[in-house]
Amino acid sequence: MSTNAHSPIGVFDSGIGGLTVVRALMERLPFENIVYFGDTARVPYGVKSVETIAHFTTQIAQFLLEKDVKLLVIACNTMAAVAAQVVKDLSPVPVLDVIDAGAVSARGGSKIGVIGTPTTINSNAYARAIHDYVPDSRIHSQACALLVPLVEEGWLDHEVTRLTAQEYMKPLLAEQIDTLVLGCTHYPLLKPLLRQVLGDDVRLVDSAEAMAEQVAAVLADRQLANPGPARPRYDFYVTDVPLRFQTIGERFLGRTLDNVHVVKW
Ligand code: DGL
Repeated sequence: MSTNAHSPIGVFDSGIGGLTVVRALMERLPFENIVYFGDTARVPYGVKSVETIAHFTTQIAQFLLEKDVKLLVIACNTMAAVAAQVVKDLSPVPVLDVIDAGAVSARGGSKIGVIGTPTTINSNAYARAIHDYVPDSRIHSQACALLVPLVEEGWLDHEVTRLTAQEYMKPLLAEQIDTLVLGCTHYPLLKPLLRQVLGDDVRLVDSAEAMAEQVAAVLADRQLANPGPARPRYDFYVTDVPLRFQTIGERFLGRTLDNVHVVKW
């Protein structure tokens, strides 16, 4: 296997939510080639067991390594929560995970809220990572199982989503959090609504943007940044093309979704 600055970045997720990370990478690093893998046949991971997620994650990481990626990005918070070490153990190239990136960006907070899928919150991975970077902080976690389907339904500014978010945010507001880490691929799309629910005094940490910053820093540090100026290539591998895939995918990516390849496992 040979990788260099022109090799693609491999990004993966349980489905299409990780396209929020791809979008942030495209904006921050416009010369980078990207290969994305979304396990659309087996999503959601957020309620699955640790063993199952670790098994699926290994399969996906190996697939991307065969594409000669120069860096692996775990865009899925649920995979990062329970299987980041599995990927780091098998990968010859650097592995970045979205939880570490989000935790770094939580610096500056003292009462920090974290929201994510039930598996992510149950793992305590965010609380551990944030404590490493912000040892004196108090962390309040909240699983928000209903937000992923509401985002996929496109109800980004809908009364049902607002009421649901208000209910989830109640305990965090009672703790007077000053920072909220959006610990799920889908939540960046809810930023305007969460801002309304939380008011202006709570800082929102978008882990997709945090990840793009971390990727930029690691590529620069290892002299692996693609100098351009050729137009980058984007490839999207998925395990299924479900109903409304194109519409939902383009909502996450913020642009047309081309070069979609279906992998049958
Ligand atoms: N990608 C997942 C995450 O960031 C959300 C969707 C799922 O449950 O698989 O946690």
